[in-house]
Amino acid sequence: MTAKRIAEGVYYTGTIDWDRRTFDELVALPRGTSYNSYLISGSSATALIDSTEPSMADELLRTLEEMDAEINYIVSQHAEQDHSGTIPELLEIYPEAEVLGTPPCIELLEELLRIKGNFREVRDGETLSLGDKTLRFTVTPWVHWPDTMVTYLEEEGILFTCDFFGSHIATSEIMETPEDFLREAKRYYAHIMMPFSQMVTSNLSKISKLEVSMIAPSHGPVISEPELIMDAYAAWTSGGDGVVIAYTTMHGSTRVMVERLTEKLMELDVGVRPVNVAEHDTGEFLTELVDASVLVVASPTVLTRPHPAIASALYLVNALKPPVKYVAVMGSYGWGSLIESEVRKLLSNLNVEYLESVLVKGLPLEEDLQRVDELAMKIKGVNGW
Ligand code: FEO
Repeated sequence: MTAKRIAEGVYYTGTIDWDRRTFDELVALPRGTSYNSYLISGSSATALIDSTEPSMADELLRTLEEMDAEINYIVSQHAEQDHSGTIPELLEIYPEAEVLGTPPCIELLEELLRIKGNFREVRDGETLSLGDKTLRFTVTPWVHWPDTMVTYLEEEGILFTCDFFGSHIATSEIMETPEDFLREAKRYYAHIMMPFSQMVTSNLSKISKLEVSMIAPSHGPVISEPELIMDAYAAWTSGGDGVVIAYTTMHGSTRVMVERLTEKLMELDVGVRPVNVAEHDTGEFLTELVDASVLVVASPTVLTRPHPAIASALYLVNALKPPVKYVAVMGSYGWGSLIESEVRKLLSNLNVEYLESVLVKGLPLEEDLQRVDELAMKIKGVNGW
């Protein structure tokens, strides 16, 4: 695509992946995505910030060729291949270009891309002069790998952030913030940033010292109101008071319990979101967990253990560590249930308190459903609704 000017001497040179529908073979991308790079042309040197996914290398190279760009520096803010994967091709065309990154980033570039280049490690706070433009690098580890950093263009106040503040949105209006931007950004946060919420908080504090006029991430649109996304990140890292019911059902008995719990919680004015994890895309489930303080796991048994769709969802919950404080287990079983102990094993990373389980042999009777009502009242109590 043709480069877009976003400020004097600053160009968007990204590639848009309109048709990509999953990321990491895990999370659906209902709106596609983009891999953004930016060319910054100073009076004495030019830098390219990030590159693109290898499958889109030709498009980036064509854009740079059309611009007749001479690249002196390639700033690699993060070594994951959707941003670094075209560096080998770039180095063939610009063999004199220096590749700048944090020390862990340089190490990862060598390991992931198997390239030997003209690498230069940058330190926190270091600056790079392009003549009339100055780049300042701020090391922001674990958003979301140990190698990550952001780049601040001092003269314009533009902050280039790679994955930090990204969203999976393919749009031709790269300078417009779509109305549902925060929904997509939250989905992105849940999948990519949630396990590192403490590091997100400390990096937010670090970059809040900069006067930022615009945030230019490496996925999704440029954000012209930085406080919009920074305030949202601050809220997401603080957790919430929602109740998420992760469930599935085989013959309907567990569904009866889930429906009763949902109705009772609504009657009690408690915010609740049941998610059939076998039916919904993983991204939607993870997004709901960002604001959850209570997770109810509701599953039928498969050979006495949780249904595989539930086990898979809990594997992710355990890895992504949402801000959940309480877990309750519900479900219907046939001849025996080891669900509660299996759920505890699957969620061993979470520091949570378990509420009393409601496990029912067969189709729930009214007396069983009254135990579900009691669970709802207990949830209301612990959750401070
Ligand atoms: Fe968009 Fe961590 O790569």
